[in-house]
Amino acid sequence: MTPSLRKPRRMRQGNLIRDMVRETIVTTDDLIMPLFVCPGTGVRQAVGSMPGVDRISVDVAVQECAELRALGIKAVILFGIPAEKDPLGKEGYCDHGIVQTAVRAIRAAVSDLMIITDVCLCEYTDHGHCGVLIDGDVDNDATVDLLVREAVSHAKAGASMIAPSDMMDGRIGAIRQGLDQAGFSHIPIMSYAVKYCSAFYGPFRDAADSAPQSGDRKSYQMDPANSREAMIEASLDYEEGADILMVKPALPYLDIIAKLRANFSTPIAAYHVSGEYAMVKAGEKLGWIDGTRVMMESLLSIKRAGADIIITYYAKEFARLQREAQEG
Ligand code: PBG
Repeated sequence: MTPSLRKPRRMRQGNLIRDMVRETIVTTDDLIMPLFVCPGTGVRQAVGSMPGVDRISVDVAVQECAELRALGIKAVILFGIPAEKDPLGKEGYCDHGIVQTAVRAIRAAVSDLMIITDVCLCEYTDHGHCGVLIDGDVDNDATVDLLVREAVSHAKAGASMIAPSDMMDGRIGAIRQGLDQAGFSHIPIMSYAVKYCSAFYGPFRDAADSAPQSGDRKSYQMDPANSREAMIEASLDYEEGADILMVKPALPYLDIIAKLRANFSTPIAAYHVSGEYAMVKAGEKLGWIDGTRVMMESLLSIKRAGADIIITYYAKEFARLQREAQEG
């Protein structure tokens, strides 16, 4: 047998060389922390299926954002749990809605933090669908009108970036136009461009109390079987003016992240969703896996696949571990 000239293990001999040749690094700069904001004061209510994630009132959200910023986190994404839900999701787009109130309070108290807002109606509608129901289905254009109002109201409150997660056709173009006309042409849009109809959103719907009361989201969210269609969705959102394209969920769709990375030059974001987080937390609780190592490997894999930005419930935990490592 001729000796092999190629010996990849030479590059793995010790920490020093491994650190030198490492191709992918996750930092707190890459991460966005989701927060669930609810009415009241002093509220911090645990979400059963998402250990470590709470519903918090605006005053607590302000403290939380200050803490996140001190840990090096630069962006949060806000989800609202309104006091009242109704068929048209009014609290989603009124100027004194829960998210608008939270944005103003955080903006006033915490400087130098990106406040991204999720734009969708499912958290605000009593039927739990992401838009206006007409004859049992979500009406596209009636929904888009309300989404534009929601986006503009978030921008008025002081949001740094708008993230539409509804999956209606044409909403990015309409929101871009609405923002521009209202004087917010400088506010970027991070589009949930490729959002699958996924079972991995279960724990989020517990947190936001937003599970559809009837039916499912198959008529607007994408079929998990489809990959070419992801290119259609991403291309449309790009052409309509999206600044950042997002894939959601993350780990089961790394192929889609890689495909978008190869085909678009915008930043690519991935949403490491509630179910992905909950599974790791559950496995850790049972003692079946090392939760911290699985977290690190998951975030690394999402970035290696091509994501520049990761929305993850692990953001704070990751930032804290990084801080401890630096100090230790
Ligand atoms: C709103 C929205 C959802 C998520 C983000 N924005 C829920 C859904 O579409 O049902 C899910 C996030 C997660 O699971 O962590 N449409």
